[in-house]
Amino acid sequence: MQKEILEKLNWRYATKQFKPQAFTPDQRAFLEESLRLTPSSFGQQLWRFVWVDSPLLREELKPFAWNQRQITEASALVVLARPLTFPKDQLDRFFGHLEVVRGKTRQEMAGYEQRILSFTSAKDERELACWMDRQLYIALGNLMTAAALAQIDTCPIEGFEPAHFDRILGFEKLGLKSVVVAALGFRSPEDAYQHQKKLRFEAKDVHLKL
Ligand SMILES: Cc1cc2nc3c(=O)[nH]c(=O)nc-3n(C[C@H](O)[C@H](O)[C@H](O)COP(=O)(O)O)c2cc1C
Repeated sequence: MQKEILEKLNWRYATKQFKPQAFTPDQRAFLEESLRLTPSSFGQQLWRFVWVDSPLLREELKPFAWNQRQITEASALVVLARPLTFPKDQLDRFFGHLEVVRGKTRQEMAGYEQRILSFTSAKDERELACWMDRQLYIALGNLMTAAALAQIDTCPIEGFEPAHFDRILGFEKLGLKSVVVAALGFRSPEDAYQHQKKLRFEAKDVHLKL
């Protein structure tokens, strides 16, 4: 099992050229669920995963993502987004949900709520934004790993202009901000990058054991 997982992690690479092959509903549901199951700080799930299924929208986005072909050619494109600011109703929403799922009242969870509040209130708006951004990178990692295990290719994409993505996708209206993007699909046999040797520093140079 461990060997197979490492084989899959070696198999994956940031795919530049995808072949035109649609996901089955099952594959798409798997990818969506792997994002939803991402862990987050205090379990707050301050995110929206925006699947850009419209080819027209993807064409419109492409010039604002360094014209990377993955934007239009991948089987799916997901923009990982967060709220513009920490939402005022976040804790109502979260503890309401917690009560439904776990049957614990907000009163019973008061200590936990206090911990969240002291964590968030110690941060200014910019720090809160960075904290929310970081959660999206965990989601990106989760998605890429889950995809690789299912032999689905991905390309993480930071090479884009968030302000233009936000405008084109109507994020201002939705109170969202794009953080990072993932293209998903199946590698084209013509993508030369798949044959390149993995470029990673040696284990002794990245693991520090004290
Ligand atoms: C956060 C993040 C953003 C990235 N943005 C891009 C991108 O915009 N375009 C691209 O082709 N690759 C992008 N990459 C891919 C990296 O260049 C690639 O993962 C790295 O060189 C390691 O190679 P490998 O993933 O093929 O093993 C990004 C990777 C990460 C983790």
